[in-house]
Amino acid sequence: MPQVSSKEFGKIEGKTVELYTLANDSGAKAEIITLGGTLVSLYMPDKNGKFNDIVLGFDNLEQYLKESPYFGANIGRAANRIAGGRFTLEGKEYQLAVNNGPNALHGGEEGFNMKIWDAEGFTSGGSACLKLTYTSPDGEENYPGEMNVEAVYSLTGSNELKIDFKASCDKTTIVNLTHHSYFNLAGHNSGKIYDHSLKIEADQYTPVDENLIPIGELKSVEGTIFDFRKAKRIGEDAEKAAKDYTSGFDHNFVLNNPENQYGLAASVYEPKSGRKMDVYTNQPGLQFYAANFVENLKGKDGAFYNPHCGLCLEPQKFPNAVNTPNFASPVLKPGEVYKHSISYSFSTE
Ligand code: GLA
Repeated sequence: MPQVSSKEFGKIEGKTVELYTLANDSGAKAEIITLGGTLVSLYMPDKNGKFNDIVLGFDNLEQYLKESPYFGANIGRAANRIAGGRFTLEGKEYQLAVNNGPNALHGGEEGFNMKIWDAEGFTSGGSACLKLTYTSPDGEENYPGEMNVEAVYSLTGSNELKIDFKASCDKTTIVNLTHHSYFNLAGHNSGKIYDHSLKIEADQYTPVDENLIPIGELKSVEGTIFDFRKAKRIGEDAEKAAKDYTSGFDHNFVLNNPENQYGLAASVYEPKSGRKMDVYTNQPGLQFYAANFVENLKGKDGAFYNPHCGLCLEPQKFPNAVNTPNFASPVLKPGEVYKHSISYSFSTE
């Protein structure tokens, strides 16, 4: 039988942050805290059946509040970058907090990753599930309208971790949610991810300017370091990526799936453990970020995390879509329901 349990993880100004454990029949386990719906650990078997924790994280609330580079968090209202933090909706201009160079990043000073969500654990068929909800007030982080958001985590009997997001609002606003786990399939404390091989189901990517804002073009990956159409060792072009493109891989890929259609976005394989992860989504874009900005961070179990010790595969709409007419729009109107599903599906080879 799948199992769900909870205990206190810490307190913020008297409010309890809970840690929920979802466990399935085969011994896989996901631990999620109600701060940001953050996945703090994920235990999956290797090719010999040994379970390791394969996501980067901290063992205390303090660090999640003060120094987390969005480890394991759900991001909103608008993931990734918005140029100048500015956009116009129905003739009205909005200015968000500029918290990343000249741009807005990941929902602002206190995005959804910093909020305590309401939680309800349950089981359904062979899955252990957690439903998280949050109501974002009108004007929070300067976004218009009250937004109700929901994230349902399901750990299935077949070692799949699914996240189903939903959002609705009472005024025209923008939404672009994502999940920001840093994976290292060899185990969270295993150093660089260069030996992981990565395949991305994308014939194009969105080239960016020096501040990582897409220039608006969809460019073929052919002949570039962004060609992951065939599985490629991440280390192969990582140094080149770091030299030629700010600090390394931190780019959005244009998924081949027709928009709104759920399908395979990427596959990652780590040869030593034999662990494989397939990522599915119904979103048009996938940000591949190779933990370029992680520097000497003290993590769980005495780990120290450094650049390229994990990889994020974040399904989303393209960065700065609200200001780029040819990108799928992140605008959400009253009466509409935003639906975004992600699956991180694990196996061994
Ligand atoms: C995203 C961005 C990166 C970085 C991380 C968080 O993946 O694209 O540039 O900001 O989040 O550190």
